[in-house]
Amino acid sequence: MLPLQAVRSRLVSASHRQLYNLNKNRTFSTTSSNMVKVLAVLYKGGQAAKEEARLLGTIENSLGISEWLKKEGHEFIVTDDKEGPDSQFQNHIADAEILVTTPFHPGYLTADLIGKAKNLKLCVTAGVGSDHIDLDAANKKNITVAEVSGSNVVSVAEHVVMSILLLVRNFVPAHEQIVADDWNVAQIARNAFDLEGKTVGTVGCGRIGYRVLERLRGFNCKELLWFDYTDLPEDKKTPDFKRVDKLEDMLAKCDVVTINCPLHEKTRGLFNDEIISKMKKGAWLVNTARGAICDRNAVKKALESGQLNGYAGDVQPAPKDHPWRHAFNTLGGGNGMVPHYSGTTLDAQARYANGAKDIIQRYLAGKEQDPANLIVIDGDYASKAYGQREKKPTGQKPAGP
Ligand code: NAI
Repeated sequence: MLPLQAVRSRLVSASHRQLYNLNKNRTFSTTSSNMVKVLAVLYKGGQAAKEEARLLGTIENSLGISEWLKKEGHEFIVTDDKEGPDSQFQNHIADAEILVTTPFHPGYLTADLIGKAKNLKLCVTAGVGSDHIDLDAANKKNITVAEVSGSNVVSVAEHVVMSILLLVRNFVPAHEQIVADDWNVAQIARNAFDLEGKTVGTVGCGRIGYRVLERLRGFNCKELLWFDYTDLPEDKKTPDFKRVDKLEDMLAKCDVVTINCPLHEKTRGLFNDEIISKMKKGAWLVNTARGAICDRNAVKKALESGQLNGYAGDVQPAPKDHPWRHAFNTLGGGNGMVPHYSGTTLDAQARYANGAKDIIQRYLAGKEQDPANLIVIDGDYASKAYGQREKKPTGQKPAGP
């Protein structure tokens, strides 16, 4: 077998090396020449993962990469234990070279932990959304962050459409009547509507937001609107979807608002009392992006006051006492919250497991990464999705869907 450096120089051209070569700062283990320590923080699958091997995002099935990594002579630590200084995550991060995390059980890589991670070179998000990593701190230490872009965007877009329908049509309380051996049509119909003729708007019109609008075409909505600081590529523009320049203007028109932008410093807490007050009274809000984009108390208050008729969330793990678990509209319905699973269907898991393996494989071989997967690299943002910055991103991640 060729030494790794020789393989690298054969595979990476000089011009590509400057932009993509993730190996350039690589430190080699003193014990085994090319051995790399890979740490993965995944969720526990328990009995379900034992019975269903396609649950690849679990610690039990470890993205399907365990045997491969070990055969290649690398160390692979997999854990779901991520909280506190004595956790496996915080212990192993000290000397891991590659960190694999998932938004479904996020290992929060804070600036403090990045400071302690002396060998860390590459963070791979198995899925989409790398807000659990302090991206500014990663930049300062020249750590590359990559995610499997596009891997679950169809899964989420379908979930958004489902959530819109179940809120607008008042599905959850209707179904609950059945399992409670009840039957009261009027009680449900008094708050059930058609989606046809309603205005729907997305905050963020990237891969997911655009796919949501595409899927809504068949419902004959009054208007399909989008708000995003990034324009659509020319070939994606259509008169069917209207851009609105100001978020508040879009909110004032929408019966349904769907949030499809990343969590970053400008979107954290964006849907607070004030912005929700700009929405149409009795609108429905669907948040499959990140919980922290919505202020938890503001959403609950808005449901209780009638400002919102419903909220459906598919976001990060919520503690048992989280107010959204028991937040209802004035009629006791309007709660479409589920555990964070929309982007982790079995189809999505196959795609993000393969994608994570591909990113690691490229890193180990010194090959260039797919530019669409890069979030930060070479001390700078490669993606335009994580906030507008003065300095232009290195522009590797194509804009738009
Ligand atoms: P993307 O990068 O293709 O698109 C995101 C878009 O949001 C970009 O066009 C960007 O310009 C825009 N944006 C950023 N800040 C904005 C702001 N303040 N206002 C309006 N637009 C803004 O990302 P993609 O694939 O569409 O995913 C979006 C987000 O959805 C992810 O970052 C993640 O947080 C979430 N997600 C959730 C999943 C789930 O399972 N619930 C799975 C996958 C993604």
